[in-house]
Amino acid sequence: MLNEDLKGEIEAILTYVKHFAVIKECKISRETEEISLDEMRHVEWLASAVVDLGGEPAIDHMPLNFGGNTVQDMLRRDVELEKGAVKQYEEHIVAIDDLKLKKLLTKIKSEEEEHLSKFSGMLEEIS
Ligand SMILES: [Fe+2]
Ligand SMILES: [Fe+2]
Repeated sequence: MLNEDLKGEIEAILTYVKHFAVIKECKISRETEEISLDEMRHVEWLASAVVDLGGEPAIDHMPLNFGGNTVQDMLRRDVELEKGAVKQYEEHIVAIDDLKLKKLLTKIKSEEEEHLSKFSGMLEEIS
């Protein structure tokens, strides 16, 4: 489960890096860059947790879908990724018994909820 979460984080990082590089609206680009850095920290936490359990961190990702070419399309894709992340963390928090890991995933999930609200807010602003 932690490795599945890790892969989702890597997918988000790569998607957001492409988006912040191509989006010309400064505020949206900078905000997307900030969020990609949060996801990088999530990768660090999850990879360390996998290693602590004696596993090997999955540095891998699903085929990338960057959304369409407009800023709206990209933000819609970002919203979709964050919604998926929140849902997956919710399921994993329920499924995992270890309290320390539950706490870690809960902390990450709350940051994903913040990201979701930021991306949704930016999408609303420009729509
Ligand atoms: Fe994340
Ligand atoms: Fe996120």
